[in-house]
Amino acid sequence: MEHITILDDKRIILGVTGSIAAYKAVDLASKLTQAGARVDVIMTGAAQRFVAPLTFQAVTGRPVYTSMWGTDTGGGLPTHIAHVGLGEGADLLVVAPVTANSLAKLAHGLADDLLSVTALAARCPVVVAPAMDGGMYEHPTTQANLAALRERGVTVIEPARGRFASGLVGRGRLPETPVLLGHIRRALGRGGSLENMKVVITAGGTREPIDPVRYITNRSSGKQGYALAQAALDAGACVTLISATQQLPVPVGAVLVPVESAEAMLDAVLTYSRDADALIMAAAVADFRPAEIAQHKIKKADQDDEAPTLALRRTPDILMAIKTQRAATGHPRAVIGFAAESHDLLENAQAKLRRKGLDLIVANDITAPDAGFNVDTNRVVLIDAGGAQHPLDLTSKARVGEAVIARVAALLGTEEEAR
Ligand code: PMT
Repeated sequence: MEHITILDDKRIILGVTGSIAAYKAVDLASKLTQAGARVDVIMTGAAQRFVAPLTFQAVTGRPVYTSMWGTDTGGGLPTHIAHVGLGEGADLLVVAPVTANSLAKLAHGLADDLLSVTALAARCPVVVAPAMDGGMYEHPTTQANLAALRERGVTVIEPARGRFASGLVGRGRLPETPVLLGHIRRALGRGGSLENMKVVITAGGTREPIDPVRYITNRSSGKQGYALAQAALDAGACVTLISATQQLPVPVGAVLVPVESAEAMLDAVLTYSRDADALIMAAAVADFRPAEIAQHKIKKADQDDEAPTLALRRTPDILMAIKTQRAATGHPRAVIGFAAESHDLLENAQAKLRRKGLDLIVANDITAPDAGFNVDTNRVVLIDAGGAQHPLDLTSKARVGEAVIARVAALLGTEEEAR
């Protein structure tokens, strides 16, 4: 697993309580560690009945804290100071899974084990992920405890619906690791360089219908646009993701606006950009669409070799429409385009930057097999409105996303205010 910048070197306390879902917390601890975080696990007594402390120690490479009273710390903080020492330097306290019992303790300030004492002593943001039987989760007492925690700024991760170990079906399952990670990133992103900024991002290749069955599209997977959305969320932005692909998991916290054609994307971009701070057009928008959309499936004649001729028509240029909107309203305050080029990369990108009135263009060489469409890496040059060029070596789309988001923060003048 690649390092995740927002998790890199972060001190995370992972509280694990006594639910069958405790085994899933092992994967969470492992993924957080692989992503670069320092994970200190605190287990309640009940949690240790489901998973051994050694399992967490093995995946985090760090001592696991199990008691307020023991003297053997396995190289960790002495236990008489662990309850304050652990919380003091932490960037985040995550309790996953949290049982109804531990939730009640957190809500009411009970402090009778190392986890509940640490939660009282800690001053970092807190995330809890309830996991319990559906009836217990829906019980008014549990809901009141959750409301009290939310009121205090605690992030509550909504449990998933599904089948419990008991065989019953309902809401109360611990979500899978990627969802937990998404919420953790969101909590760490608060106060980032784009805090309270509205960022609209487009992704994927539009589909232009020929008939009810067929369409014209391109090779865009949406990966670069989704990576940008995640980078903007990590920076604390409110993200609207206008997506022509529905194949990728939506980053936690992004508002998804699904679209299909260039026309539909134009409508969505104009609507959501009205009060946006930034627009980033990473989508590969079709330049042409069929002039007519057949109402019924176009049939081939049985005895005939003839094929129909497809007449094409230009689609609207979304960035040109945004240029007009921006001149009239001032929004979006910053506009970033991409240029997917197979030749004369920099010249073509610069011409698009000027014609479309952009603040920044990401010149994307699509000739190499490890860059551009439908791969996890990219090779780009960022060109600003003054013509200055900033090439990025081959890197992940996540890193390209972070580099673009850093430029957006600079354009909006928010990079200095962060945290
Ligand atoms: O989705 P992936 O598989 O991860 O691939 C990523 C990518 C290659 C699609 C992405 O990095 C990229 O380069 N996106 C822009 C693709 C593109 O359409 O480039 P263009 O040079 O044709 O268009 C220039 C700019 O105008 C783009 O910002 C585009 O979104 C915008 N545009 C294009 C056509 C149109 N009708 N309206 C537009 O606003």
